[in-house]
Amino acid sequence: MTDLNNYEWKVTAAGRVNLIGEHIDYCGGKVFPAALGMRNTVYVRANGTDKINLSWTTLSDKVTLELDKLETYRSLKYGNYQAGSALMWQKAGHKLVGCDMVQDCTVPFGSGLSSSAAIEVSTIAALAAVAGEKAEPVEVAKTAQRAEREYAGVNCGIMDQYASACGKAGHAMLLDCNTLSCEYVPVKTGDCSLVIINCNKPHSLMESKYNERRDETDKALAILREPAKISCLAELDLRAFEKYCGLLPEKIRLRVKHVVEECERVRLAAVAMKTGDMPALGALLNASHASLRDLYEVTGKELDALAEAAQSHSACFGSRMTGGGFGGCTVSIVQTRALSEFTKHVGERYKKATGYEPSFYQTEISDGITVEKI
Ligand code: GLA
Repeated sequence: MTDLNNYEWKVTAAGRVNLIGEHIDYCGGKVFPAALGMRNTVYVRANGTDKINLSWTTLSDKVTLELDKLETYRSLKYGNYQAGSALMWQKAGHKLVGCDMVQDCTVPFGSGLSSSAAIEVSTIAALAAVAGEKAEPVEVAKTAQRAEREYAGVNCGIMDQYASACGKAGHAMLLDCNTLSCEYVPVKTGDCSLVIINCNKPHSLMESKYNERRDETDKALAILREPAKISCLAELDLRAFEKYCGLLPEKIRLRVKHVVEECERVRLAAVAMKTGDMPALGALLNASHASLRDLYEVTGKELDALAEAAQSHSACFGSRMTGGGFGGCTVSIVQTRALSEFTKHVGERYKKATGYEPSFYQTEISDGITVEKI
């Protein structure tokens, strides 16, 4: 067992749950995520070489990355996110120093809770710390997004990396993905709890239709930009959508309808959170899930069954998939007094529908990057 006290820095970054505002970050919309206590921790120390030696607390693998060959590690099963992050940080003009890194991830992989963003963000922040640099969280988030796009090949938006880097304990982030202005909204759920449940069908954004959805929204923007005078799809309001939707091919029209309505739901959800109106927030979650299922088509059998199982319990105000979709987690608002009944109900009903056992997570809303000298 590695003695983690022999390292110089302990750097962490968060996984995230998105309360609402799904598949609109890359359309310039506002999203409403929160950073989680589930996170990736990197223990790092300089090693005086030109190599990054990677190891993990939960894997026996060991990987060495040479600082001048960072382009070449794309096909690694483990270590590719770290290589991509180091490469993009280097490309952004930062100095890399050889180091030993132990990685400890408590965000379940493939859960839709952004384990990859937590790994990328914490790796970059660790590289900065060991090089004696104070990294600026928004720059780390943007660089981590480049790693995901240009190295891992997922053409993602900024939401996950931003939440992972810039989260604040006890707060959700009303993040405008067009301007990156962010309003921190206290998560006050009164006598309700936020419950995150994993459907335990791993998602893979790479294999999934994520990039296809992005292409569809890009196409929509190309068609609507001039006539509707917009620079991103999130600028289209419902009235303008109705006026111009005839220009869009049918499938794409459904995608855009989701984007337009989801933007409005985020606005209402922020109001509901600020006024502590949990039934209103719950209804918006339900509507968001239905739209992701019927218009955006990114849910799948398991997520639909899990959301339905939660929604069918009387103590649940609302439930929806969170993250990229095609598997992973749901987030639900449930009256705290009935949590154990709710858990039993969802477990049984979901298993009957799909054969999978769901996992329920206990996690708090937490800070983004943390850096600690050991
Ligand atoms: C993934 C992406 C994000 C966002 C969500 C869907 O998590 O990384 O950028 O697009 O899917 O809201």
